[in-house]
Amino acid sequence: MSFNSRADVFHARHGDLHCEEVALASIAARFGTPTYVYSKAALLAAYRGYAQALQGRRALVCYAMKANPNLAVLNLLAREGSGFDIVSGGELARALAAGGDPAKVVFSGVGKSEAEIEAALKADILSFNLESIAELETVERVAARLRKRAPVSVRTNPDVDPKTHPYITTGLKSNKFGVAYADTLALYRRAAASPHLTVVGIDCHIGSQITEVRPYVDAADRLLDLVDALEHEGVHLHHIDFGGGLGIAYRDETPPAPEALIRALLARVDARGHGNKTIMVEPGRSIIGRAGALLTRVLLLKHGETKNFAIVDAAMNDLMRPALYQAWMNVKTVQPATAAEARYDIVGPVCESGDWLARDRDLAISPGDLLAITDAGAYGMSMASNYNTRGRPAEVIVDGSTVYVVRRRETVEALFAGESLLP
Ligand code: LLP
Repeated sequence: MSFNSRADVFHARHGDLHCEEVALASIAARFGTPTYVYSKAALLAAYRGYAQALQGRRALVCYAMKANPNLAVLNLLAREGSGFDIVSGGELARALAAGGDPAKVVFSGVGKSEAEIEAALKADILSFNLESIAELETVERVAARLRKRAPVSVRTNPDVDPKTHPYITTGLKSNKFGVAYADTLALYRRAAASPHLTVVGIDCHIGSQITEVRPYVDAADRLLDLVDALEHEGVHLHHIDFGGGLGIAYRDETPPAPEALIRALLARVDARGHGNKTIMVEPGRSIIGRAGALLTRVLLLKHGETKNFAIVDAAMNDLMRPALYQAWMNVKTVQPATAAEARYDIVGPVCESGDWLARDRDLAISPGDLLAITDAGAYGMSMASNYNTRGRPAEVIVDGSTVYVVRRRETVEALFAGESLLP
């Protein structure tokens, strides 16, 4: 199955929206709503877009699991040979539990705790992506205590504008991420001189939902300048990690395909004589984003004075992107029209005006109808909360005509299981 257009993943057949061979209405009937539905074929096709573009090279794709850390998703990717980009001890535990190879794990993030560093050192991960001198010193201290050498890379901040939402811009001077470009070489000198650290690579990450190749190429050139300078000083790197961030088409964006991004990066790397190094990327959204939809049911329609509201059983706690980033998410009806079309805001039951999933959508719907919020596979379930004591949705993966529950719906009892009363 190939997935070149967005219509392919969640597509209507005889008026019924399907994921692969399965009607979404049958998933709602079997497992209830709200439920996240993922297509295995779409997930694998997206991963293979990267893997195939890198074929024949020394290369590693490290899936950024913050986008969607479900064990089944991780396991499918691990079986394809994917590595993982992690940002916490919890994500390390997930990578290992899902059968991930620790030798393909990179650890990012500005605030790694000593306990997290220790766990990662014991697991023998590929690289600690350092984001400050203070962190370098912490990693060094923990490594010394464990009598180990920590493999390190410095996340440099290339100060490149990725032209995306300010909350998901990470590679500008004003962002908290990475080591200032001008300070990077000094950090490498410090790391190279340490008996407890081994310099293995360099990395950067400039932002997320990037829809052009240009900022990547600019950042790559800045990185390669550092690689040259380091080699000049006798510090040789094993890998160059260009980070994640490639966008997907939520609405009318036209992001480059992974293949185009990889081609552009490899061209720069080769032109500058570093084609022998391991080339790495850390995509998250572009691997799982389009493969997933949030399936929700219309509870009731409410006709306000200036607006019509479709109140659905999913809410901001299930899918936070609209509330947090004013993100536009695509809404599709799941079955043929049951009423005349009207313009609705799609909102959840949570007690906040910020609890909306989509605004001003023309839909022909009635209470009880199903809606699918598509392109929601990334940063959907992974950012879900229990606000208003709402259990998080179930997650299922569709493989052809088979549906696998990969996470049960969270029960209310599970939500307060760790709480206790005073004597
Ligand atoms: N590597 C690092 C170090 C990152 O910080 C991120 C994402 C990635 C890789 C993966 O980036 P991706 O390929 O998914 O763009 N919650 C936001 C996105 C936050 C991204 C944070 N960093 C959203 O829903 O738009």
